[in-house]
Amino acid sequence: MHVPFCVTRCGYCDFNTYTATELGPGASRDSYADTAIREVRMARRVLGDVDLPVETVFVGGGTPTLLPPDDLGRVLSAIDAEFGLAPGAEVTTEANPESVDEASIGKLREAGFTRVSYGMQSAREHVLAVLERTHTPGRVPQVVEWTRKAGFEHINLDLIYGTPGETDDDWRGSLEAALAAEPDHVSAYALIVEEGTRLAAQVRRGELTAPDDDAMADRYLIADEMLSGHGLHWYEISNWAADPRAACRHNMLYWTGADWWGVGPGAHSHVGGTRWWNVKHPAAHAARLAEGTTPAHAREILTGEDRHIERVMLELRLAQGCPAHLLDDEAARRAVGDGLIEPAPYEQGRAVLTLKGRLLADAVVRALT
Ligand SMILES: C[S@@+](CC[C@H](N)C(=O)[O-])C[C@H]1O[C@@H](n2cnc3c(N)ncnc32)[C@H](O)[C@@H]1O
Ligand code: SF4
Repeated sequence: MHVPFCVTRCGYCDFNTYTATELGPGASRDSYADTAIREVRMARRVLGDVDLPVETVFVGGGTPTLLPPDDLGRVLSAIDAEFGLAPGAEVTTEANPESVDEASIGKLREAGFTRVSYGMQSAREHVLAVLERTHTPGRVPQVVEWTRKAGFEHINLDLIYGTPGETDDDWRGSLEAALAAEPDHVSAYALIVEEGTRLAAQVRRGELTAPDDDAMADRYLIADEMLSGHGLHWYEISNWAADPRAACRHNMLYWTGADWWGVGPGAHSHVGGTRWWNVKHPAAHAARLAEGTTPAHAREILTGEDRHIERVMLELRLAQGCPAHLLDDEAARRAVGDGLIEPAPYEQGRAVLTLKGRLLADAVVRALT
């Protein structure tokens, strides 16, 4: 479920999210839970009895924790009432460190959430300032402590590397601070300068320097070394977990071609080889559901070729790799020779990227599909 609201927009972010002044009439934070519940009920009517019960729920944003915990709990109860939540279901919410307090985290746990993913991004004030984040570095250990005390099973910290002005030492400091909070999962993303963002305008005007590919590669190597040195192992190119149970089950389903229903404006769904996506604006999404029509905007039916390319592209990013028979054997053996694919697993039928292969994953996928 996508929650399309933020207090302010960070300069680098091009997600489908709206501040109070950007939102306009026809949608509101107050009515969002009811709108989402309408879509959950519609999903149940459309899908019938397939894929019951629900194994994972992921509430992302935007800033889901701008909604009161009771509202998030109501949507979760609606999912449970319509589909049933599987025993031991993974239920994640994203949260901005400044958007929760001890009481709200406790309520989320009581409502049935099992995992929180915090947008930490950096532990350096000057980096947070360039990213236009509103939390202070000290906020993260505090919220992680509250989250653990509330009894959450899993905690993720999102980090961004390559922000203009960040040095290797700044990045090491951010990783150290993240590790000191002892999460069982870290996601580390290379900063992408997205078209149309304030960050892109600052780079175009020469006020900030876009991150350089070699510096980015060095930061990735630093991340992998420090995270694995502290017991967090990569299981997807940008994701490290303490053990297989700490890997994000929901994201693993995206990466292995499972079916999911995306609730919310602009949300994408995938069921049985058909992909569709909802109207983008929250007002249009709310209006469609209020009149009982589908919020779906368009759809595509994936061809066998599409599915093959996507499967290789997504599974090759995983530490478990992809079945070798999906690849052109000659090209794959060349990649083994170039040190991009691990030789021993390949002989046993799995193509797994080496560390060098992870740095060049996009090119490796292009060469192999
Ligand atoms: C939906 S967002 C975040 C949730 C929450 N609103 C927050 O910012 O803390 C998920 C993650 O995507 C990453 N992200 C967003 N825009 C990015 C960009 N342009 N480049 C790299 N990572 C980005 C950030 O690490 C962010 O925490
Ligand atoms: S808080 Fe998160 S979703 Fe909102 S603008 Fe910032 S990065 Fe984007």
